[in-house]
Amino acid sequence: NGKYTVTFIEGDGIGPEVSKSVKQIFAAADAPIDWEPVDVTPIASDGPTAIPDEAIQSVRRNLVALKGPLATPVGEGHVSLNLTLRRTFNLFANVRPCRSLQGYKTPYDNVDTVLIRENTEGEYSGIEHIVVDGVVQCIKLITREASERVLRFAFQYAQSIRKPRVRVVHKATIMKMSDGLFLTTAQNVAKEFPDIEFDSELLDNACLKMVTDPTPYNDIVMVMPNLYGDILSDMCAGLIGGLGLTPSGNIGDECSIFEAVHGSAPDIAGKNLANPTALLLSSVMMLQHMGLNSHAERIHRAILQTIAEGKTLTGDLRGNAKTDEYTNAIIEKL
Ligand code: NAD
Ligand code: IPM
Ligand code: MN
Repeated sequence: NGKYTVTFIEGDGIGPEVSKSVKQIFAAADAPIDWEPVDVTPIASDGPTAIPDEAIQSVRRNLVALKGPLATPVGEGHVSLNLTLRRTFNLFANVRPCRSLQGYKTPYDNVDTVLIRENTEGEYSGIEHIVVDGVVQCIKLITREASERVLRFAFQYAQSIRKPRVRVVHKATIMKMSDGLFLTTAQNVAKEFPDIEFDSELLDNACLKMVTDPTPYNDIVMVMPNLYGDILSDMCAGLIGGLGLTPSGNIGDECSIFEAVHGSAPDIAGKNLANPTALLLSSVMMLQHMGLNSHAERIHRAILQTIAEGKTLTGDLRGNAKTDEYTNAIIEKL
């Protein structure tokens, strides 16, 4: 039927509300997507992190998924399902663009950054143990293989921009061996791309400079180990108006899962207050990834126009529209 089937994980908290918005907008835009909804709630009898096989098979079959947020317990409890998904499908690069939205005023103008986060290891390897009572060790695993893979991805990604530049963000001054390996691997991969300007910066300094003036970071592809990318991407979201606005793509060699940077927002869940823009922009990234550029463009333009007009905005953007009112405003623009 000329349609593509995409796996849809609606997620927890505000997940179903922002997912509904995407489904309505895709239907109104005649986007050629058939959603295949799957439940990723772990099957208790199969162990705490066992994602139902049906969900795994769906992603493997469709190769592309859109995902709402999944809540992760603090301290005790199951390993994050988000991490399990990233690892199961070897989604080694997490692409997190962050662009100012015209018409929505923040202390910063014209932010246009992209951050690429290693997505499979580092502090997220899940290797922690008690040495003796009161002393815990957490292993930050850095491998040349995973570093090289995400770094090469970052350079290839940079090739698509007009004046390609790549910057590796690190703390190799302190983590001399682990971040040191990431940095030297970057320096080696850079030699494969002589036309791309390459440099490096310490993470703390990058934070300071970005909150002072982010514009010098425009058009630089920043690539970094997992945890740094987690933290820096929330900070970047803060520059343009918050987590309601920033999308991401978890990219692997075979499958990809697109999701917002934000979580399940339990404080506003079920109240029709969530901003669906982050998931919508993730779905635009997904359409671009699938080569459906005209559909991506059409939906993207309607979102940007609605925000630029400034009449129908959700509470996080100082507006008083509900999720569904904002969704309808976008649909009117299509
Ligand atoms: P969060 O991103 O859920 O919320 C942080 C703040 O941002 C809250 O005040 C929330 O109301 C606001 N916010 C987030 N998204 C919004 C949106 N779309 N519209 C309007 N406001 C929005 O972070 P948290 O509270 O630290 O985490 C809650 C849960 O989500 C945790 O269990 C966490 O592990 C999980 N989480 C999941 C993902 C994911 O699935 N990829 C990402 C981050 C956090
Ligand atoms: C994100 C989230 C996840 C992370 C959590 C929910 C596991 O914060 O996607 O940024 O830490 O990577
Ligand atoms: Mn995060």
